[in-house]
Amino acid sequence: MIVESLISLIERITTDRSLIAGTLSQLRKKEGVPYTKVGIKPVQLKNGLHYQFAYYTGSQVEHRNIPAESAAKELESLLGETFRQGLLCTAEADYQVLISKKQKVTILTKPPTKKAAADLSHNRRKRYVLEEGEPVPFLIELGIMNDSGKVHAKKYDKFRQINRFLEMVEDVLPSLPAGRPLTIVDFGCGKSYLTFALYHYLAVREKRELNIVGLDLKADVIAHCGALADKLGYDKLSFLVGDIAEYNELDRVDMVVTLHACDTATDAALEKAVRWGASVILSVPCCQHELFAQIDNEIMEPLLSHGILKERFSALATDAIRAKLLDLMGYRTQLLEFIDMEHTPKNILIRAVQSGGGDSRAKWREYAAFRDFLGAKPYLERACADLLPGDAAESKIH
Ligand SMILES: C[S@@+](CC[C@H](N)C(=O)[O-])C[C@H]1O[C@@H](n2cnc3c(N)ncnc32)[C@H](O)[C@@H]1O
Repeated sequence: MIVESLISLIERITTDRSLIAGTLSQLRKKEGVPYTKVGIKPVQLKNGLHYQFAYYTGSQVEHRNIPAESAAKELESLLGETFRQGLLCTAEADYQVLISKKQKVTILTKPPTKKAAADLSHNRRKRYVLEEGEPVPFLIELGIMNDSGKVHAKKYDKFRQINRFLEMVEDVLPSLPAGRPLTIVDFGCGKSYLTFALYHYLAVREKRELNIVGLDLKADVIAHCGALADKLGYDKLSFLVGDIAEYNELDRVDMVVTLHACDTATDAALEKAVRWGASVILSVPCCQHELFAQIDNEIMEPLLSHGILKERFSALATDAIRAKLLDLMGYRTQLLEFIDMEHTPKNILIRAVQSGGGDSRAKWREYAAFRDFLGAKPYLERACADLLPGDAAESKIH
């Protein structure tokens, strides 16, 4: 077992793509391990970012390209069981990991040594999924670029946001079912920039067979989106007017997207996703007000007595609770930066990939302690009470 601080370092530098190079050395014990050293570097493959693990045996080397999603697990397992030293280089710092025979972990943070590689990594991040200069019909129709592919100056932030979203989608492609048409629902799709982007990326570019449904309360916006889908010939993209909590049209959905759906509309979408057993959930919460009215804790008075701090803390605590509950219901959940802070404070994306391992009593106790400390009664817990262990069933309200 390796300590939490090392796990979170590994998860952070693999999910935010900041890991530039890694070396693992000093075998824990020589017997039974065919290799003596492992090198790691990021590689951009057609189906998304991977990490290339090079396993050295004498003068031989065996390479394995592991999807970014699973790289953290491989790294954790190699440092947890096989090696006692690691050097993990990012643009911000080099992290030297030392694990003693008694499993004591020391992480030394040193100035970065991989500047040239850092620039490469920077460039890779800047290589957008949709490039400026390549006209894309839906971007032209939505007024983001002109007919020759030039992005309008005022729409550059939107263009970056669409690309960031598609990078996230690219990363989860291996987690979606293969060999059959996909069903995807975008809850609270609004003007649907990202829904069209998703359709273009998966159906037009990746040539995946799929159906995408966009759902929103606003009839006029939905009518407009439906007309645009027709105009673009996106015949497997449909738009419906409706409330997320009351949407019961489909039996199986592979991916649920919910971006900036207000307050507990996000929770309603997460509940639907979990009940469908969706393989992937991408959610950017917004206006997390529910906990603001619930949080009550004397010890936290210095923070909670300031409205602005209480509001921000409530939003972060809401997302922490959502992530923990998704973990408890069989998802591997990560919180990632969606777009830069200077463009919007609504910048956390919850990415949850079904992993099958839920229902841990220890995790539940950890969650319940946090919830009780805050005095919170979260919507998602109440809505999914029958899917959760512990005392959740007692708190079920509807
Ligand atoms: C801020 S917009 C985001 C639109 C789009 N997803 C995006 O990120 O650009 C939020 C949308 O969620 C919709 N919405 C909020 N609550 C909803 C609910 N309960 N059911 C369906 N749509 C909802 C609103 O009508 C609005 O269009």
